[in-house]
Amino acid sequence: MSMSKKSGTRKFAAYPRLNPLGVGKDISAADLIDQTFLAYNGGRLREAAQLLTEKMLPKDGYIGMSLTGALTPAGLGKSCLIPLMKAGFVDWIISTGANLYHDLHYGLDMKLYSGSPFLDDIALHRDGVIRIYDILFDYNVLLDTDAFVREVISGPEFQKTMGTDEFHYLLGKYVSERGKKLGLKDSSVLAAAYECGIPIFTSSPGDSSIGMNVAAMALRDSKLQFDVNRDVNQTASIVYEAKSSGHKSSVFILGGGSPKNFMLQTEPQIQEVMGIQEKGHDYFLQCTDARPDTGGLSGATPAEAVSWGKVDPNTLPDCVVAYVDSTISLPLLTAYCLSRVKPRKLKRLYQRRDELLNVIKSLYLKTGTVTKIKTSRKVAKRSSGIGLNKNLDRDR
Ligand SMILES: NC(=O)c1ccc[n+]([C@@H]2O[C@H](COP(=O)([O-])OP(=O)(O)OC[C@H]3O[C@@H](n4cnc5c(N)ncnc54)[C@H](O)[C@@H]3O)[C@@H](O)[C@H]2O)c1
Repeated sequence: MSMSKKSGTRKFAAYPRLNPLGVGKDISAADLIDQTFLAYNGGRLREAAQLLTEKMLPKDGYIGMSLTGALTPAGLGKSCLIPLMKAGFVDWIISTGANLYHDLHYGLDMKLYSGSPFLDDIALHRDGVIRIYDILFDYNVLLDTDAFVREVISGPEFQKTMGTDEFHYLLGKYVSERGKKLGLKDSSVLAAAYECGIPIFTSSPGDSSIGMNVAAMALRDSKLQFDVNRDVNQTASIVYEAKSSGHKSSVFILGGGSPKNFMLQTEPQIQEVMGIQEKGHDYFLQCTDARPDTGGLSGATPAEAVSWGKVDPNTLPDCVVAYVDSTISLPLLTAYCLSRVKPRKLKRLYQRRDELLNVIKSLYLKTGTVTKIKTSRKVAKRSSGIGLNKNLDRDR
C-alpha cells in the first residue's frame, strides 16, 4: 500500500496530470492553448500565454516588444501587432528597419500576394516580381515605397538629428494621414504607433531600405541624421521609469537579432554603465527558432541573461522561451491576450520622452563615473562553485 502511495500521487503532487479532453468543434484559440498545448513547445507556448496574461500585463506592467524576422510582410502587423498595440498590450517597440519598411506597403495600400516558396526566381526577376519566401509583390512596390520615404523626409521637420523614436513618430504621422486619405483603418504599425504614442526604435538605422533612402538623401541636402546615443539612453529611461514607478518591466522578443540585444541591454546600461541601482527585467518571453548552443545572442536563454544583469534572478523561474515560428506563435498569443485580458490604458510613452530622459540623465550625473563604476550589484566574496561537476571533481 505504501508502495502505491509513493509511486502514485504524492511524488507528483507538484505536477498536473496529463489528461486532456477531446477538441470540440467550437473551441476558442485561448481554450485550445490552455487545454491541448500540454508539452514540448506547445507547453512552452501555453506557459508564454499565461506569463503574458498573468504576470506581464497585469498591474500596468511595461511591455517592450522586439521584432525581427519578416513579420510585417506576412501581414502580422495588421493581424496581430496593431490589435495588441491598440489594446494597450505593447508599450514600446524595437524593430528591424525591414519590418517598418514593409509595413509601409500595407500603410500605403499596396498589394502583397500569397505565393509559393517553390517558384522560379530567375523568371520572377525577369517579370519584376519580388519574393520573400512564399510572399510575392511587384518591384514597383519597392520603388513607390522608396519614393514615399524620400518625399516625406524632405519635409522641414526632418531636417535635423533625431532619435529613431522621433523619426518613426514623424513618419507614422504621414502614413496615418495618407491612410486616412486612402480610407484605410488599422493598416500600418507605424501609423498605429503614432496614433497610440508608442515609441518605436530601431537598433540599426542604416540596415534597411528606410536607412538606405535616408543615406541617399544625405548626399543631396538632407540634414536628417540618427541620434543612436539618444536611442540607447531613451530605451534605458523607459525601463528605469517602469522599475522606479513600482511596475514590472517585461520583454516580449519575437525572433532575436540586434533588436533583442538592444532591448535587453537597457538593464546593463542602467546598472553597469550608469551606476544606477537596478536588478534586471522582471519577465522575459521569447518566441524564436534560434538555438542557444551556438553562443549567439539570438538564441541566448533568459538564464544566460541573468548572469549579465539583464534579467532579475528572482523572476527567472517564470521566464519562457518557445521554439515556435512567429507566424504561428504571434496570432495564437494575440488571440489569447485579447480574450483573457481587458484592454489597458495607453501609456503614451512617446509623449513623455524628454521627461523620462531627463530623469535618468540627472540620476546618472549623480551616480555615474568616467572611471570604473562602483557596482551596486552584490557579488559573493567566495565562488559558489556552481557549474562544477562535484562527482567528477571527487573522482579525479
Ligand atoms: N528591404 C529591407 O529593408 C530589408 C529586408 C530584409 C532584411 N533587412 C535587414 O536585415 C537585418 C536582419 O533582419 P531579420 O529580421 O531578417 O534578422 P535575422 O534573419 O537575423 O533574424 C533575427 C532572428 O530571428 C529569428 N527568426 C527569424 N524569423 C523568425 C520566425 N518567423 N520565427 C521565429 N524566429 C524567427 C532568426 O532565427 C534570428 O535568430 C535587419 O536589420 C533588417 O532591417 C532589410
